[in-house]
Amino acid sequence: VFDPFSIQSYKGSYGVSFVEDFFCEINKMNAEKIHFIIDETISRLYKEKLKDCLSSSSVLLIRANEENKSLEKIPLYVKHLIENKIRRHHTLVAIGGGIIQDITAFLSTVLLRGVDWHFYPTTLLAQADSCIGSKSSINACDTKNILGTFLPPKKITIDTQLLETLSDVDFRSGIGEILKIHLIEGKKAFGSVAGEYAMLKRDKKILQKYIYASLKMKKKIIEEDEFDKKTRNILNYGHSFGHAIESSTNYAIPHGIAITLGMDMANYLSLKLGKLDQNNFNRIHEILALNYQGFEKHPIPPETFLTAISKDKKNSDNKLKLILNNNEGRVEITEQENNLFFKNVCCDYFKHIRC
Ligand SMILES: NC(=O)c1ccc[n+]([C@@H]2O[C@H](COP(=O)([O-])OP(=O)(O)OC[C@H]3O[C@@H](n4cnc5c(N)ncnc54)[C@H](O)[C@@H]3O)[C@@H](O)[C@H]2O)c1
Ligand SMILES: [Zn+2]
Repeated sequence: VFDPFSIQSYKGSYGVSFVEDFFCEINKMNAEKIHFIIDETISRLYKEKLKDCLSSSSVLLIRANEENKSLEKIPLYVKHLIENKIRRHHTLVAIGGGIIQDITAFLSTVLLRGVDWHFYPTTLLAQADSCIGSKSSINACDTKNILGTFLPPKKITIDTQLLETLSDVDFRSGIGEILKIHLIEGKKAFGSVAGEYAMLKRDKKILQKYIYASLKMKKKIIEEDEFDKKTRNILNYGHSFGHAIESSTNYAIPHGIAITLGMDMANYLSLKLGKLDQNNFNRIHEILALNYQGFEKHPIPPETFLTAISKDKKNSDNKLKLILNNNEGRVEITEQENNLFFKNVCCDYFKHIRC
């Protein structure tokens, strides 16, 4: 078990701790002041372990899907909390992955102008990446993550045992974010995780080591630029491409798999721009391709993809704002003209490289 650490935020600092059995902590909570918001799958899979918590007075079970993470569904959740007499000194406790996190963080910000929340992440993506960084995003008017706030939880408790029930695809989705932060950190860090890629699924200790390392790497970046005005942009490596892949496939490809493909596409563009040589491209492609296995042939309509990427919220004028990797293993914010060259690179990638 790793030492706890804290993250400095505009709201003060908040702690991240690692435990062997977080159900023990959850069941001991003073239920009078707590409102649980739990992934329905977790409540089913861990029914016995969550027995006390599930029988407490305010429990909201939500199926983790994008539809339920929308503004249109928020009134249902607010209604439940009003019926359960929510007060400003109460705490929302989220148990689930990124979807449950986004819903709870959003509600915490706007309910009664702010109530505290605690997070018990249950997916690899949430444990290794999204649990820190203060962001919440909600879908509205058929637009993904269009509404959002910044409010970190008061504390985060991680129990990696929960990951044993995760599907292979959701597991690799989380690995996608681990690969991303290690690529951002540099060649040595990526070399290390790439070398142990096959062991991540097999050896719990090795996986824990990379979850911890990923959070520590992200911590440095978000503490420097919590509100994503400058340097934090680099965390979007693979994400402009990834978000366009998600939306042009109607979210059939999970987030972390889409950004794995997105990083490969960004690197392919770097190759074509002469920023990355063939050896460096291949070195990274080998691991990314392993991680998006099963999605090599998933149809991604190029036209829909290109329309989606040109609408990316980070763009200005006709320029795309992309994060690109170079031969030294450094990622940089780059402006790219949304021109025929760019379109050809993307189409070429879908036809010849994604395999
Ligand atoms: N706020 C942020 O900083 C941030 C960052 C990245 C992603 N996100 C958002 O997070 C969402 C994706 O999150 P996610 O990948 O964690 O997925 P998720 O919350 O959608 O969960 C994925 C699937 O795993 C199931 N699940 C959860 N824990 C499980 C467990 N321990 N065992 C078995 N099944 C389990 C869920 O029921 C669901 O079917 C997206 O909506 C994305 O936009 C938010
Ligand atoms: Zn992401």
